[in-house]
This record gives sequence, structure tokens and C-alpha cells, in this order.
Amino acid sequence: MATSADVARNRRYWDGERADAHGEVARAHWEAAEPTWGLWATPESRAGMIPAGIAGQRAVELGCGTGYVSAWLARAGARVVGIDVAGRQLATARALRDEYGLDLALVQGDAGRLPFRDGAFDFAISEYGASLWCDPLRWIPEAARVLAPGGRLVFLRPSPLFAMCLPERGETAPALLRPQSGLRRLAWERATEFNLPHGELIGLLRGCGFVIEELIEPVAPQDEEDPRWFSADTTVPAGWARRWPTEEIWKVRLG
Ligand SMILES: C[S@@+](CC[C@H](N)C(=O)[O-])C[C@H]1O[C@@H](n2cnc3c(N)ncnc32)[C@H](O)[C@@H]1O
Repeated sequence: MATSADVARNRRYWDGERADAHGEVARAHWEAAEPTWGLWATPESRAGMIPAGIAGQRAVELGCGTGYVSAWLARAGARVVGIDVAGRQLATARALRDEYGLDLALVQGDAGRLPFRDGAFDFAISEYGASLWCDPLRWIPEAARVLAPGGRLVFLRPSPLFAMCLPERGETAPALLRPQSGLRRLAWERATEFNLPHGELIGLLRGCGFVIEELIEPVAPQDEEDPRWFSADTTVPAGWARRWPTEEIWKVRLG
């Protein structure tokens, strides 16, 4: 089980070195005319992360970081709350929210212990937020709790295959570096990530009352040549990500 030490560790990480780097790229995301998702900027027209009919719905972004996903939801007419554990990430999100004049609530807190009442939302989303940085055994039951019956959860996270091939430093190669068992909690040098293998994730989602509607595995575009930074220390070549999925999009709904 992830401990509060993992939450504190990741908060320090995101309040420290990562906040500066992330703050710089936030503006480009806020300015984007169409939402794009993940490492390979998969367009919303292909990813479909934002459901039709979101206008007027109550939405929460879990691990909202610099808040651009929340901004896209707000522009689509949703009533949005973004929650993040790191104050500096939220400071960037608040500055951009005020600059863009959007109606968007931003709250500091742990996605594994949400400060919201049962059934408070119709839609929950996470793009490399809680979906990567919070223990799924904590945040997925919490997402289920705060969603109303029929509520939808959509999240983008690294694929388990990518998590098994990702080096501590340097370029990702087609080589399995760690077993699938133990993948759930990946304690790196400065932060802790989480990646539940597919079978366990399906069991957890179903156990929380979710019906699985879609799993999309985006790959790098054919004409993409540049590698992507995955973390501060690691990259993945576009050629790798054309042959295997680096990331995946899950769409589930409370039954
Ligand atoms: C990659 S960033 C956010 C993704 C967002 N789409 C963005 O790029 O701004 C990951 C975020 O997860 C947040 N985070 C980490 N652990 C968390 C937790 N337990 N609860 C809520 N947020 C958390 C971090 O503070 C960080 O802002």
C-alpha cells in the first residue's frame, strides 16, 4: 500500500524541481485551440477524453497540475474543480486561470483522500495526474465514491509495458528492465509512480462498480521523429512509441 510518505515525497517533488519545468510548458497547453493528450499530443478528435454533453456537468480533475485540462473542461461548459497536492503547481494554474478569466475552482489536496462528498460529480478525469502519481488502490475507490451513479471516469496513464521498459536515466530501449509483479509502486530516486497491470486494474475498476467502456492505446504519429521526455531523466524515441504503446486511455462508467 502506498503510504502518506509517498504522498509527501511526490508533493515535495512537484513543489520543487518539476514545478519550474512544468510551469514553462503550461502556457502552451492553456493556449491550445484543440485539446491534445499525452506524450504524442493525440488530438481530442481521436482520444475523445471529453464526453459529449459535458456542458453543465460537475467535473473534477484529479492531480490537475497546471490546470489546462480543467480549463478545457470549463471552456466546454462544465462546472470544474481541479485538485492537486502541490501548492506550486496550483499557483501556476491559478495565475493562468485569472489571466484567462475562467470560472474554475482549484483545491489543494490528495486524490487518495478527496475532500468532496459522495456523488458530488458527474465526471472525473486525470491525465498523468493521480493516474500516475497516486496509488490506484487509493484514488480509484475515491473517484468512484465522489461520482454520482452513471458518472464517468476517464484517465490517461503510461502503459504497463512502457513502465517495464523505462530506464532510471536515458533513452528507453526495447528491453524489459523490471518484472510486471511489483509494478504497482515504482519508487524512483526522487519520487514514486504507480502502474497497476491490466488484470489487476480491471479487477479494481470492476470492484469499485465501474463498467469498462473503452481502452485506447495511442502511438506516436508516423511523421514524428523527435523523442519525448517522459521524466526529467528519461526519454522515449518516437520509433519505440510507434511499435509499442507508451500510454493508454481508459474510459469507464459507474454502473
Ligand atoms: C504531470 S502533472 C499533472 C498533469 C497535468 N495534466 C499537467 O500536466 O499539468 C502531475 C501532477 O500530479 C500531482 N499529484 C501527485 N500526487 C498527487 C496526489 N496524491 N493527489 C493529487 N495530486 C497529485 C502533482 O502535484 C502534479 O501536479
